[in-house]
Amino acid sequence: ELGQPEDELRPPQSRAQSKSRNSSVNGRMSVDDFEFKEELGQGSYSTVWLGKLLATGQEYAIKRIDKAHLKRHQKEQTALAEKNTLVRLGSGHPGIVRLHWTFQDEWSLFFVLDLARNGELQTRISRLGSLSIECVRYYAAQVVDALGYMHSKGVIHRDLKPENILLDDAFRIKITDFGTGKLLDSGGEPTKTFVGTAQYVSPELLEHNESSKSSDFWALGCIIYQMIAGRFVFRGLADWQKIKQLEYSFPEGFDEQAQDLVRKLLVRDPDQRLGAGPPGSPYDMQALRSHPFFASINWRTLWTAPAPPIE
Ligand code: ADE
Repeated sequence: ELGQPEDELRPPQSRAQSKSRNSSVNGRMSVDDFEFKEELGQGSYSTVWLGKLLATGQEYAIKRIDKAHLKRHQKEQTALAEKNTLVRLGSGHPGIVRLHWTFQDEWSLFFVLDLARNGELQTRISRLGSLSIECVRYYAAQVVDALGYMHSKGVIHRDLKPENILLDDAFRIKITDFGTGKLLDSGGEPTKTFVGTAQYVSPELLEHNESSKSSDFWALGCIIYQMIAGRFVFRGLADWQKIKQLEYSFPEGFDEQAQDLVRKLLVRDPDQRLGAGPPGSPYDMQALRSHPFFASINWRTLWTAPAPPIE
């Protein structure tokens, strides 16, 4: 896998783009086209850098993945899955980090991604303790909209959590980290591998090691709860029994409509989770968008109107 020609790790549209934007002789991107300015963060097998494309001055987040580490941990598939998933999602949605180019050198793979300057949603929740109900409504609506797009492209994220929800200059979300992303074929059958983060793990993943689009909606329920309550709804694998038995409660003062929404997302049967049902069913994407919690959301201006102040 690692001996692949560079083109194998490049999105199909990038050739034309790199010709027009890039001054390098062979029309390909390389590390030399960027100034690496500062480290933005670290993942388990990668480091993200703020990089400036010298030809245009445009800044990006550049994910540098260590090839030796990939090989040692047999994670080549993870990097490839991440790339393939991002390529399938393309530039089709403002709420999903876009992959602009990929290239490699002897030691590393590089993914050039949209920069989200305001960091992780998790950091905001930690700093503020919890978020205002208007903020929660806005971020939840943006996640719903992005999930709708992602799922329509046959992609499930499988590790949706506030660490993977980034905020751009305008404090709009960009979902990232598709290393656990899954491409569904036309049937959309559930897939059998355990991935994800314990606090956001759905009952079907715990019990049958199975995940589908619905698992992303379970995670959404956990995230909405966390943004409002300022703590996890389930602590993780230690709460295995509680997850299976849906044993949780809302703190006093938890917004009533948000409670109703969370109850309709944290449903045991994946097919009856709001948002996850087939079009026309009472659990379809439209039913989710129409939930009373989102009554004041204008879905048409969701990505153009200013974000509410983060508080
Ligand atoms: N950290 C990880 N990915 C990032 C991105 N796309 N923008 C900013 N910081 C990040």
